[in-house]
Amino acid sequence: MVRRELTVVANRLPVRRKGDEWISSPGGLVTALKPVLKDSGSWVGWSGDSEHYEPFIHDGISVIPVHLDQRDLDEHYAGFSNATLWPLYHHAVREPVFDAQWWDRHVDVNRRMAEAAASTAPKDSLVWVHDYHLQLVPSELRRLRPDLRIGFFLHIPFPPHELFQRLPRRRELIDGLLGSDVVGFQTDGDADNFRRAAHAAGRSGPTDLVATDGRIVVVDAFPISIDVAASQDLAEDPATHARAARIRADLGNPDVVFLGVDRLDYTKGIDVRLEAFGQLLESGALGRSDVVFVQIAVPSRETVEDYREARERVEQLVGQLNGTYGRIGHPVVHYVHRELPFDVLVSMYQMGDVMVVTPFADGMNLVAKEFVVSRDNDEGVLVLSEFAGAASELDDVAILVNPYDPEAMTSALARAATLSLEDRVARMSRARTTVVANDVHDWSAGFLNRLKGETTLRELK
Ligand code: ADP
Ligand code: F6P
Repeated sequence: MVRRELTVVANRLPVRRKGDEWISSPGGLVTALKPVLKDSGSWVGWSGDSEHYEPFIHDGISVIPVHLDQRDLDEHYAGFSNATLWPLYHHAVREPVFDAQWWDRHVDVNRRMAEAAASTAPKDSLVWVHDYHLQLVPSELRRLRPDLRIGFFLHIPFPPHELFQRLPRRRELIDGLLGSDVVGFQTDGDADNFRRAAHAAGRSGPTDLVATDGRIVVVDAFPISIDVAASQDLAEDPATHARAARIRADLGNPDVVFLGVDRLDYTKGIDVRLEAFGQLLESGALGRSDVVFVQIAVPSRETVEDYREARERVEQLVGQLNGTYGRIGHPVVHYVHRELPFDVLVSMYQMGDVMVVTPFADGMNLVAKEFVVSRDNDEGVLVLSEFAGAASELDDVAILVNPYDPEAMTSALARAATLSLEDRVARMSRARTTVVANDVHDWSAGFLNRLKGETTLRELK
C-alpha cells in the first residue's frame, strides 16, 4: 500500500536566506508542491549558500538542508551540472566542458541528497526528485530504501541520442534515472530521446515503458505549467494595470513595446533577438513608429564563464543599439539586470505589445505562459521559438520563429508589431484557454497520481 506522504528532493530548497531569516522562494515548483507537502511533507535540497544549517519547519514543510561546500559548488554545481550537463542538454548551444575531476563531487552530492531523503522519508511513501543536477539520486535512493515509490522529473530538455552519446558518464546517468518508478519529461520528444538513450545503453523495453532489473519504469511527458490563479489574480488587480500604465508612460508611451523577460542565460537567445530588433530599426519596416525594446534579465550563474560572456554580449548590444538608434532621453532598448517582484513582472507583461521568447533550446519556458495569462484584455502578441517546450502547446497561437534564422526573426518582429487587433485577440484568447486548461496543480497531480499508480480522468481523455 503506497502512503501519500511526499519528500521532494531538488537542487534548491523552497526557502532562501534573507539576513537571519528564511523566506519563501518564489516560483511555480514551490507553489505547486506546497499544498501537497503541507503538514506531512519534506523538502531536501541546497540552501543557496555554503553555510551549515539544521533541519527546520517552514510553513508546515520539513526543510532538510544538505550542506554544499565551496568545492561542491565549483565542481558539482558550476562544473558538472552547469558547464557539462546544461549546455549538452540544451543542444550544445555552448561547447560542453568534460572535466573528469568534477564527476566525483557530482556523485558525492547526489549520494548525500539521496541519504538525506532516505533518512527522512516515511516507510512506503513517495519521493519526487527534480532536475538535471540530481539524476543519480533515484538509483542511490532505491539501493538505500527499496520500499519507496520514486519519481523523477527533468525540467530541461533531454538531448537527442547523438548528443547524449558524447557524455563520458552517460551510462551512469541512465542507470541513475532508471532507479525511478516514473521518469517525467517536458515533451514527448524529450521522453523519446530518453527511451532511445536507455535502449542504446542496453536497458531496453517496450516503446512507452523501460523495464530494468525486473521493474517497470514509466517514461512519459508531463508538460509543466504556471500557477494560473496567482497570475490571474494579479492581472485582474487594478493596481497591476495602473502600474503597467505608469511604466508605459515612463517609456514615453511608444507606439510599440517589445518585451523580453529571462534569466540571463545564453540558451535564451537574448542576443539574437536584440540583433533582430536592430535589423528591424535599420530596415525602417515600421515606418516612423516610435518603437522600444524592454529587456528584463535576472542575473544567473555568474561563476560560469559562458554566463559572464553572455552578459557581456547582451550589454554590448544594448549599448550599441542605443548608441546607433537612440536619442538623448530616448533609448531604444531599456535593460534591467535585476530580479523583480512577480506583481511588477505581471505589469510588465501587461504593458508590452509583443513578448519575445527566443530560446535556442528550453525545457518549457514559463515566461511565455505567464505572459498569456497576464493579458486579461486578450491583446498582445507572443513571438515564440520553435525550440521552447511551450511551442508544442502554443504553436497555433504564437508567431513561431527559428532563432537561428536572423531574417525570419526580424520579419517575425515586424509581423507581430503589425498584426490586426482581431487576429491578436483571437490568438490570445485561444492561448489563454490552452494555458488555463493545464495549470501547475494539474501538472503535479498528474505526476503524483502516476507515481502512486493512479490515472487521472484528464489523462484518460
Ligand atoms: P528558467 O526556468 O530557465 O529560468 P522559465 O521561463 O521557465 O525559465 O522560468 C523563469 C521564471 O523566472 C518565471 O517564473 C519568471 O516569472 C521568473 N523571472 C524571470 N525574470 C524575472 C525577474 N527579472 N525577476 C523575477 N523573476 C523573474
Ligand atoms: O530551468 C532549470 C532551473 O534549474 C530551474 O529549476 C531553476 O529555477 C533555474 O534553472 C535557475 O537556476 P539556478 O538554480 O542555477 O539559479
